[in-house]
Amino acid sequence: MKKPILQAKNLTKRYRQGEAWIEALKGFSYDFPPGVTAVVGPSGSGKTTLLNLLAGFDTPTEGEVYLAGNPLHALGEDDRAGVRLLHAGFVFQSWNLLPTLTALENVAFPMLLKGVPAKERTERARALLAEVGLSHREDHFPRQLSGGEQQRVAIARALALDPLVLFADEPTGNLDSAAGSRVLELLVRQAQGERRVVLVTHDPEVAARAERILRLKDGALIEIQERP
Ligand SMILES: Nc1ncnc2c1ncn2[C@@H]1O[C@H](COP(=O)(O)OP(=O)(O)O)[C@@H](O)[C@H]1O
Ligand SMILES: [Mg+2]
Repeated sequence: MKKPILQAKNLTKRYRQGEAWIEALKGFSYDFPPGVTAVVGPSGSGKTTLLNLLAGFDTPTEGEVYLAGNPLHALGEDDRAGVRLLHAGFVFQSWNLLPTLTALENVAFPMLLKGVPAKERTERARALLAEVGLSHREDHFPRQLSGGEQQRVAIARALALDPLVLFADEPTGNLDSAAGSRVLELLVRQAQGERRVVLVTHDPEVAARAERILRLKDGALIEIQERP
């Protein structure tokens, strides 16, 4: 049997709030196909909760989640972190980059964690920065870069270990429309081969770039819309 690259089975997440429980995600099941899948829904509908479960940052109250064939729901925190390092890349709305590292060092960082030799790290980081159009910014620190440039560095870093899944949570949320388009263009372009790109957004224009849109409401998956 083929191992699921990104699959959720009946995922439920409940948070305790004082005496009450909040059901942030309710019985979410989906086997993500290759390509770009957008996750949309109003604020509080469970988008970030879902992403945190799919990536193994958090564990479900009920249900199963597989990343690169690994049962994240059955693994401890360290093992989940290991799976994540090897198979997932992340681009968040903000606070993506390590402020004390240059752009090149940020991109090389996941390879350092994996134990890739220094020369290879630098070469690959250079190539990735070139791919996102930032060769001239290699030695800049995050604070010396624009928001759009920082997101492009974040994309380069997310690709450092050639992940099977690329997760993005409101990746264009803090950018003006020109910078946002460029970041979105780069993200969409990364959906090659077996790779899955999961794009969490509340912006319909961003979601329209995906091959399919999953709509959440009050923690439930209420619609799956395939692009014609
Ligand atoms: N750590 C937490 N503890 C308690 N409640 C939480 C926690 N994280 C999220 N929630 C609640 O779960 C629901 C879904 O939140 P979230 O996944 O952040 O939604 P979205 O990303 O769609 O805005 C909300 O009602 C939110 O308040
Ligand atoms: Mg959110």
